[in-house]
Amino acid sequence: LKVGVIMGGVSSEYEVSLNTGREMLKHLDPSKYEGIPVIINRLDQLIEGVNGLDFALLALHGAYGEDGTVQGTLETLGIPYSGSGVLSSSLCMDKQLSKTILRHAGIPTPDWLCWDSMECYDTDAARRLGYPVMVKPNAGGSSIGMTKVNSGQELRNAVLKAFAEDACVMIERYTAGQEITCSLLNGKLLPVIGIRSLGEEWFDYSAKYEQGGADEQILQLPAATAERVQEAALASYRLLKCSVYARVDMMLKDGVPYVLEVNTLPGMTETSLLPQSALAAGFTFSGLLDAIITGSLQ
Ligand code: DAL
Ligand code: MG
Repeated sequence: LKVGVIMGGVSSEYEVSLNTGREMLKHLDPSKYEGIPVIINRLDQLIEGVNGLDFALLALHGAYGEDGTVQGTLETLGIPYSGSGVLSSSLCMDKQLSKTILRHAGIPTPDWLCWDSMECYDTDAARRLGYPVMVKPNAGGSSIGMTKVNSGQELRNAVLKAFAEDACVMIERYTAGQEITCSLLNGKLLPVIGIRSLGEEWFDYSAKYEQGGADEQILQLPAATAERVQEAALASYRLLKCSVYARVDMMLKDGVPYVLEVNTLPGMTETSLLPQSALAAGFTFSGLLDAIITGSLQ
């Protein structure tokens, strides 16, 4: 099967995407797949690059890649691709919309508000939410443009920084708990990982991607908590119509998992979480890619 690994893109997660793509190419089983790198940063390169492919393995992250646009193009071209479809990709990329759906279904997610211009800037509204807050681009990834804000004085710069990444900015109450993540593969739950950032106060870009930036361990949770975490992950995955694989990021506080977001094209770099979780479930990286491709072709 001719498998194009689509990577690069135009989002601020370009470098992360190249690292995801590199890992995928390294681990595609050569007895089954012919891996072809397809680095894109323009639409014509995408259309040209996927010509003659049997399958597009998406290593893209962020805008024009994780948000349903590339998925829509591939649907139009009739090329099968990995992971979630157009609607789910768009929904999960939009934190505001996905949180609204989760909350409506009773899945805990931290309180938030969104501003779509500096005219909405309102320190009182942020204070009512309660400091600290996380200020983030509504449709960002990899913590780029994101700041933990401890007081009203720090708010303005953080909001401006997030607006540099996105036309919509989310202010979300910080949940002081343990950062955890639960991945799913072909509808099945993978082991839960607990994250402890080392050196950094929270799981920011360097904690995510520098070797030794974070301590990430498979968590042994009390049975009742494990069940709640798994239920929240599975319900989020289903509600947001994900397919094949996804990673649900949460904060665990007093035994309650608060869902922050669902990633439809989670990082697959050397330091990324989903491959670690899959490994703990008995998948090699090659086996994981095989499961993703096979699941996507069903
Ligand atoms: N946005 C990055 C790639 C992740 O979720 O892993
Ligand atoms: Mg994300």
